[in-house]
Amino acid sequence: MATTTVSRTFGSDNHAGIHSAVLDALAAANSGDAVAYGEDEISKAAIARLCRAAGASQGYLVFNGTGANVLALSLLLRPHEAVICAESSHLNVDECGAPERVLGCKLLAVSTPDGKLTPDLVATKLNGVGDEHRAQPRVIQIAQATELGTCYSLAELRELREFGRSHGLLLYLDGARIANAVASLDCSLADIAACTDVLSFGGTKNGALGVEAVLVMADGQAASAKYLRKQIMQLASKMRFLAAQIDALLDEDRWLVGARHANAAARQLAEALTTVPGVRIAYPVESNGVFTEVTRRLADRLLQDWNIQVWSETPDNSVILRWMTAFDTAEEDVAELAAAIGRAAKTQTHDSSARSS
Ligand SMILES: Cc1ncc(COP(=O)(O)O)c(C=O)c1O
Repeated sequence: MATTTVSRTFGSDNHAGIHSAVLDALAAANSGDAVAYGEDEISKAAIARLCRAAGASQGYLVFNGTGANVLALSLLLRPHEAVICAESSHLNVDECGAPERVLGCKLLAVSTPDGKLTPDLVATKLNGVGDEHRAQPRVIQIAQATELGTCYSLAELRELREFGRSHGLLLYLDGARIANAVASLDCSLADIAACTDVLSFGGTKNGALGVEAVLVMADGQAASAKYLRKQIMQLASKMRFLAAQIDALLDEDRWLVGARHANAAARQLAEALTTVPGVRIAYPVESNGVFTEVTRRLADRLLQDWNIQVWSETPDNSVILRWMTAFDTAEEDVAELAAAIGRAAKTQTHDSSARSS
């Protein structure tokens, strides 16, 4: 297999390492004993700090994003209720049916052009309301940023929120990449959080070793949260080490600095690719993902060198590839990647014209 000199894979923001400040914070937290299960001072302080930044009433740290999604939905759903989500959502595609298995809930997945739900799209799933034979829609689930790298504007979020309220629907926002959305919209975390009932705040894709938070906006919405977190095996005994990561990301706004950096790297890549023949940017680049539509042949060629995800295939046999940047992606690495894609595209164009001549 061909090798590449670039140290970045661009395969996922999960491929990135850990921010050095997070490692330092873990080492600093590793001093003496501390009470377990979140009763220690580091945990209390970090959760209070994050809740203040989001304007949330309560926060619960968990190990991973799937756990955050399942915990969040468990707070909002009764057994006969359903979740309306985008067909492309991580919840629907990439959680091995965790919400369906653990919560026993139904997902009502809607096809979207860009990973974003709209009131009209949500409305297509409301025709069974009041019918005892149908699971009853209760939650609108969205991701911000979405799995396709797009972001809801604040106006779009508010519109969805209002629509939900007028139809008795709660809003849960999967914020595995909320930092990238805050950076992209140039708003505050609280601006986005205010449009939701419950949201998650991702750390893992943004420099943490492994931590996410579930944030509950209203008092009373989370009366059972601590029990449900334990039941779904997301209660950390040595909680201080999850909390220390959140604290380090909040210090000096590292969560935002890292996300701005990742977004800028994605824009740099997208701009460099606009002049490459045979490569089309499939979705607006509004966070840290760049999705390129290419021919199957070019995709196969790129997949030899790059450990990236084939996101989808289109009916005309082209392929959408996903390239992700992270808090530590270097400008030179992006330039090298763009040049490598350019070379592969050129070779392919050259091969096809040689064949047709
Ligand atoms: C939007 C979104 N939500 C949730 C997750 C789940 O995270 P984890 O792999 O930590 O369970 C991911 C992971 O890729 C994601 O992209």
